[in-house]
Amino acid sequence: MDFKTYVRDIQDFPEKGIVFKDISPLLKDERAFQAATKAMIAMVGNNAVDKVIGIESRGFFFAPLLAFELSAGFVPVRKVGKLPADKISRTYALEYGSDTLEIHSDSITKGDRVLIHDDVLATGGTARAACELVESLGGEVVLCHFLLELDFLNGRRRLENYPAKSLMAF
Ligand code: PRP
Ligand code: MG
Repeated sequence: MDFKTYVRDIQDFPEKGIVFKDISPLLKDERAFQAATKAMIAMVGNNAVDKVIGIESRGFFFAPLLAFELSAGFVPVRKVGKLPADKISRTYALEYGSDTLEIHSDSITKGDRVLIHDDVLATGGTARAACELVESLGGEVVLCHFLLELDFLNGRRRLENYPAKSLMAF
């Protein structure tokens, strides 16, 4: 299946001059959604995984499905101020300004093998911050895993210390 045909370009979103890759057509089509989920599970290969991280919010579409199929736990990494219990934070640079992600301190056990999933790899700042949160808690990042990556933004450079795979590249 050519998954790229289920991703549409939206001009000038969220800001003028940006072309947004919208995965809604893939999510709403039952066959494309199922096939993409299976293909993303196959991407994990023989890696043993204890925890799957999903990054709020669009990482939540697939991460719990991956966790279920991999017999792993699911751990949300959330935007600042959303998690109720003891947590750690990581602030990372955006093109203009910065953003902060958080994870519960007890969500990773030392030595856990962790897969980090998000929908999109763009500049890599988001995924890099998630990797650093996991490592701060003693987890090992076995794979950074994406539905799609935007090649021209060179996100893999920010993730150079981590294995990374995506189902689609644009
Ligand atoms: C988007 C996307 C990734 C991130 C990638 O999330 O879902 O999480 O940007 O960008 P980067 O590689 O340059 O860091 P966004 O922060 O827009 O929020 P959302 O998932 O809540 O829509
Ligand atoms: Mg996101």
